[in-house]
Amino acid sequence: MASTNILYRHLLKFLVLSALSFFIGTIHGMLQVMPPIRAWLDSIGSPYGGPGHMIDPLAHAHMNLVGGVVLLAMCVTFYLLPILSGKNIYSVKLVKHTFWWVSIGVYSFYIIQMVFGIWEGILLHSNAQDISTVHRFYGPIMAVSGTTMAVGFCTFFANVVLTVTSVSTGEPS
Ligand code: HEM
Repeated sequence: MASTNILYRHLLKFLVLSALSFFIGTIHGMLQVMPPIRAWLDSIGSPYGGPGHMIDPLAHAHMNLVGGVVLLAMCVTFYLLPILSGKNIYSVKLVKHTFWWVSIGVYSFYIIQMVFGIWEGILLHSNAQDISTVHRFYGPIMAVSGTTMAVGFCTFFANVVLTVTSVSTGEPS
């Protein structure tokens, strides 16, 4: 029972951050269809063909899909897994890891897409020749952010597999 309460306390964080992500993603979606913003995004190559691509769809899609849907799906999985399998979650520590890696990954992903999208979008209309100087940093920074998210997906998958295949129903670590 105590371990279930500890698990639920962690799962609450998934739920709250999922709700916040849907909120941010929805406000983002509303803003990007407003005519002046839409016109600017179109002028910088959204949805394909220019820096606007980073703002719409990339930042928008990942905030809603990874921040909103994936965090919710992970929460539901960790909640249902013990009920459906009759086994304790293999590791509550790994649940914590999953939360932080995915959350830091997706929020850094969003911030990077927005910063580079707006920065390069402004440059496109003023100093287009400088875009390549700025874009040099995009790849390495995104690789760190994307890898952070991916680590969270891996710890999630590992915990699900280890729970389903475990023999013990004792206290989780
Ligand atoms: C480690 C996790 C992830 C990373 C590093 C990642 C990274 C990326 C990148 C770099 C792109 C852009 C590709 C391009 O420019 O053409 C992309 C596109 C996309 N991703 Fe993710 N992604 C991840 C997880 C997810 C998940 C879990 C979902 C959905 C649940 C998702 C939904 C999408 C969608 C819908 C697009 C296409 C957007 C478009 O129309 O261009 N991603 N992703």
